Amino acid sequence: MTDPSSPSLTVAITGASGALGQALLRRWHRRGAQLIALTHGRAPLELSGPDGQPIPLRQVPWQVGEEAALEPLLEQVDVLVLNHGINVHGDGSAEATDASLQVNALSVWRLLELFALVAQRRQGARGEGRRRPEVWVNTSEAEIQPALSPLYEISKRLLGQLLSLRAPELAQALRLRRLVLGPFRSALNPIGVMGADWVAGEILRQADWNCSLIIVTPNPLTYVLMPLTTMGRWAYFGLLRRP
Ligand SMILES: NC(=O)c1ccc[n+]([C@@H]2O[C@H](COP(=O)([O-])OP(=O)(O)OC[C@H]3O[C@@H](n4cnc5c(N)ncnc54)[C@H](OP(=O)(O)O)[C@@H]3O)[C@@H](O)[C@H]2O)c1
Repeated sequence: MTDPSSPSLTVAITGASGALGQALLRRWHRRGAQLIALTHGRAPLELSGPDGQPIPLRQVPWQVGEEAALEPLLEQVDVLVLNHGINVHGDGSAEATDASLQVNALSVWRLLELFALVAQRRQGARGEGRRRPEVWVNTSEAEIQPALSPLYEISKRLLGQLLSLRAPELAQALRLRRLVLGPFRSALNPIGVMGADWVAGEILRQADWNCSLIIVTPNPLTYVLMPLTTMGRWAYFGLLRRP
């Protein structure tokens, strides 16, 4: 994993005011990282640590569809965690379809491509000691398991497949990690069985183990099916893609 103890490590997290976003910010803070909270809402995000002290962070507003505006900011980022998401549950309207695809899949894909472009430019200028930027993509267990929410499943599966399709090129500039999480409690899923803070701790633990596929779920099937799915996609896309 990118050296977490370095004081100059800059971590940006989308969906920062959500349950997992906040939990990850707290965990990274304990590791001495400089924090950028990317939020689509305007409400100020104030976090405090276990000692009650406020956690220093820079809050940057962004909007789906306006990802390009983040390009200058991404120049400073070492680890980008793409974590924002919505769940429209049983809504199958055209508006819900558009929102799910834009928020859960296409905006994440656009940010990925943008960050890879920025990282490629940095690679040329990278001197000794400059880190290889990392991107962590929170796709969800819904990539391969039912989530009782058709548009959530469709949009997360699309994101997972786009990530698999684009991984060979993106990996030339970025270290990619895929987060495949089971149900945890949040506004998006109030009946999740895991706690967001525990999930955040497990994510960082597996990143420390140097895992690219980070799985945190009580469902044992996911630990078997997800590696098989990513390998199957790698072989299928690899056979069909032209250089
Ligand atoms: N909870 C679960 O069971 C579960 C399981 C697997 C995966 N996940 C994934 O984990 C990630 C975090 O979810 P969470 O459970 O922590 O949910 P959450 O508390 O609802 O956080 C999601 C955050 O996404 C951001 N967001 C919402 N609508 C948006 C929009 N239109 N445009 C841009 N950003 C928007 C918001 O943060 P800002 O206001 O800061 O932008 C929101 O707080 C999501 O990608 C979710 O799919 C969740």
